[in-house]
Amino acid sequence: MIQPAKEDRLVDAFGRVHTDLRISVTDRCNLRCTYCMPLEVVFRPRDELLSYEEITGAVRVAARFGIRTLRLTGGEPLVRSDIDELVRQLAVVPGIDDIALTTNGLLLAEQAEPLRRAGLHRLNVSLDSLRDQMFEAIARRRGLDRVLNGLSAAKAAGFRRIRINAVSIRGLTEDEIVPLALFCRREGFHLRFIEFMPLDAEAGWSDRQVLSGADVRDILTRNIGPLVAASRRDAGQPAIDYDWVDGEGRVGFIDPVTNPFCDRCDRLRLTADGQFRNCLFSSVEWDARGVLRSGDEPDEIDARLAEMLRECVAAKKQAHGIGSSTFARPQRAMYEIGG
Ligand code: GTP
Ligand code: 5AD
Ligand code: SF4
Repeated sequence: MIQPAKEDRLVDAFGRVHTDLRISVTDRCNLRCTYCMPLEVVFRPRDELLSYEEITGAVRVAARFGIRTLRLTGGEPLVRSDIDELVRQLAVVPGIDDIALTTNGLLLAEQAEPLRRAGLHRLNVSLDSLRDQMFEAIARRRGLDRVLNGLSAAKAAGFRRIRINAVSIRGLTEDEIVPLALFCRREGFHLRFIEFMPLDAEAGWSDRQVLSGADVRDILTRNIGPLVAASRRDAGQPAIDYDWVDGEGRVGFIDPVTNPFCDRCDRLRLTADGQFRNCLFSSVEWDARGVLRSGDEPDEIDARLAEMLRECVAAKKQAHGIGSSTFARPQRAMYEIGG
């Protein structure tokens, strides 16, 4: 594969090389998870969202500067119509070699097969509980059966290494940990526990609610058996993986609060309304949509987007700073940024 010249790579002031772009395709969602969305929500007008052609245009430029992997997120990406069409367009962009998608799974039963055919490589599915009541307490809507059907359909469609994301919240999710782990071991899913971050729309987060990855690991080893740190790891991946000593599966821990991974961050973000961000916790955004809709000549648009990406990367802070006295929550919540 042709690599960008060294001076064309997206390197920030701390030497981090950016190769991953997370693209939110909508702020809409068919659940209302307490850790993400408000119960009552006004979504962005559709004409403010980037079209698939606009997203692909931005990705073409980013790929010339070393972006190699993409992740589609939301809101819930599968509520946007014909999302497989976007995957098809992105799959042929020169330089892009991995396209993944993070979904709540509700619409996966219908869409797993078309997504696979369109060229989607990997799927992560959010699932916090296997009990109807708890699922509904967290998601504020029903849907557990549909998620489970979606997972079966994803397997049948040929997806491998499916990952399950479970957010850990102290005082709420402790009893979900062991059943989720046993389920994932049985079904061959790679489970990851994620620490609750201050990105909930209702701003209810407090550090007391953070159930650390270390505490979850302790619950797992006490109730199921020993875990050993896995040797193999993608450099930019936030999860720290462990293998069950009996060889039956793997479990990962994404610990942004107690063990931040900002020092190896390789990610940029594009919001559904077309803003580049250099961090989940960015306080600044760069208006790609304005450039894409400027009416300028295509070459001029590409040059302006390239310049914008460079500025966005150059301005990236060293770390998110959760827990420090200067930490400020971002103005937007998770569903508006894209996880
Ligand atoms: P893979 O390792 O390729 O599966 O990607 P991933 O772990 O980034 O995938 P996913 O989108 O499923 O991310 C899981 C969760 O980790 C997200 O929903 C966030 O809660 C958290 N997360 C992902 N990326 C970041 C990041 O850059 N910073 C922080 N602080 N949290 C992140
Ligand atoms: N903290 C941690 N993870 C979150 N997610 C959403 N909101 C939060 C939060 N406040 C993650 C969940 C979900 C993904 C789409 O985003 O893991 O799986
Ligand atoms: Fe990267 Fe920001 Fe996440 Fe840290 S908090 S890993 S800098 S996106």
